[in-house]
Amino acid sequence: MSTTARLAGKTALVTGGSRGIGRAISRRLARDGALVAVHYGHDPAAAERTVKEIEADGGQAFALHAELGVPGDADTLWSAFDRAGADRGTDGGLDILVNNAGITVPRPLAEVSEADYDRVFAINTKAPFFIIQRGLTRLRDGGRIVNISSVATRVAFPAIISYTMTKAALDYLTLTLAQELGPRGITVNAVAPGYTETEINPTLAVPEIRRRYAEASTFNRLGQPTDIADVVSFVASDEARWVTGQWIDASGGAHLGV
Ligand SMILES: NC(=O)c1ccc[n+]([C@@H]2O[C@H](COP(=O)([O-])OP(=O)(O)OC[C@H]3O[C@@H](n4cnc5c(N)ncnc54)[C@H](OP(=O)(O)O)[C@@H]3O)[C@@H](O)[C@H]2O)c1
Repeated sequence: MSTTARLAGKTALVTGGSRGIGRAISRRLARDGALVAVHYGHDPAAAERTVKEIEADGGQAFALHAELGVPGDADTLWSAFDRAGADRGTDGGLDILVNNAGITVPRPLAEVSEADYDRVFAINTKAPFFIIQRGLTRLRDGGRIVNISSVATRVAFPAIISYTMTKAALDYLTLTLAQELGPRGITVNAVAPGYTETEINPTLAVPEIRRRYAEASTFNRLGQPTDIADVVSFVASDEARWVTGQWIDASGGAHLGV
């Protein structure tokens, strides 16, 4: 990897970096020159595959495991980061944190159980909150926090109400932290994908649903994980140093009209 790459010398951590959008973000940040910690929860093979892909591209990465949404998850994650990073010569410091890991609950209000509600908030909202809280001493001045939100917080979407509430909370966290961390030169932004082709959306296997989701974009196609990763790459770079506290739509203009 060239030392003139824009993230050369930086260390990044991508939660849920093993699959889907997180995999594309991990690959892109590594291509930009960062050493990337590829976090996963349940699928070590996917994480190792992503690390191998990065290495094959000439980049540097390592995998780390921590199940999120369970007590002590943030501490587990940072301990795993320290252990795995020590082998790669890191000092425990971090320049870019991407809170990407997430799950959905595809159920309307009447069908959401208490267990669904608690789990989606634990993984999508509580985990990033405490990962950030316990990561702040590691995050170097001038660093970046990127929270992966959703276009769903811009429109009413009854079918996934509890999921959207978790992302709305993340949006508020983004705004507030941007204010708090500004004096350290740390930017905090949310990047909001729309309908993106990953395993979080099993209904995309249904042709009619694919067509409807694609038509929601003004470009009449589904998003690809790389569409989101390219935006995260910009937000993570020095070029975006004057952008903070923002909710950046990366949905291909989904639901601009209706
Ligand atoms: N795809 C879309 O249409 C879309 C739209 C808007 C926003 N988003 C957001 O984009 C982010 C990535 O979604 P995606 O579509 O790429 O999903 P995905 O393909 O299902 O990948 C989810 C990632 O999160 C990790 N993860 C999930 N639950 C976890 C847990 N309990 N503990 C630790 N890791 C966990 C997974 O790792 P393991 O499998 O190893 O657990 C995986 O790496 C999410 O925050 C999602 O809400 C997606």
